[in-house]
Amino acid sequence: MISNKSIYTVDQYNSWADEHDWKTLKYDKESRALFYTFLNFETKGKKLLDVACGSGHDLLHYRDTFGFKVSGIDASDKEVAFANKRLGEASVKIGLSDAIPFEDKTFDVVVSKYAPQAFESIEHFYNEVIRVLKPGGYFIVLATHPVRHFLEKPERPRDYFKKEVVVSWIYEHTLPLKEWSHTFNDYFSNMLFDNFIIEQFHEKADTKECTECIDGENYPGYFLFRAKKK
Ligand SMILES: C[S@@+](CC[C@H](N)C(=O)[O-])C[C@H]1O[C@@H](n2cnc3c(N)ncnc32)[C@H](O)[C@@H]1O
Repeated sequence: MISNKSIYTVDQYNSWADEHDWKTLKYDKESRALFYTFLNFETKGKKLLDVACGSGHDLLHYRDTFGFKVSGIDASDKEVAFANKRLGEASVKIGLSDAIPFEDKTFDVVVSKYAPQAFESIEHFYNEVIRVLKPGGYFIVLATHPVRHFLEKPERPRDYFKKEVVVSWIYEHTLPLKEWSHTFNDYFSNMLFDNFIIEQFHEKADTKECTECIDGENYPGYFLFRAKKK
């Protein structure tokens, strides 16, 4: 289960929910559009779960444009309230990435966009995804790139491998986002390779248009992958 150290995440998103709701539409256009291109398979009538769905903009699109039957979970009760208002039904529950409140083998697709970097344990998250996803189902992730978190590490010399909370200033330096640093070893672990076939991968630079650039430098700001459950 989530530890006390992670509670700040809930408080953080509860306190930002209003601002985040419209800023994600303004600043996350590029990553959102790229993420949707990873859904290039038969989607109509399939059951999709969005883990850490935020205020539900994506769920609305998955339902109304792709024809998915949608469910979502998020740690923040304020984000969940926004999402349920937006979807017009109680499709979204309060829930955590390491204790997903659904039965085994419920979903055809599990997505998590711009969120796993906030989770304290990628391993516990993967365990839960493997449990709720049907065999042959898709798992699609977009997360902050470990290189970006490396650049944001507060201590010198920086230690890529040390897990610590980093502050990412996002949305033209208006919101300080506290998240866990993770390595590529965390994301591309044996657990992922043992249970899935990786079908697509992409990494993208942060640009001024999408969020901001740390010190005007060119570096990978986020990455995406699509995996099919064995
Ligand atoms: C940057 S927002 C992304 C929201 C949405 N997926 C999007 O792309 O706009 C990260 C979300 O993760 C949620 N979150 C953080 N840690 C979580 C956890 N351990 N379990 C579930 N949700 C979590 C936050 O409440 C927040 O809504």
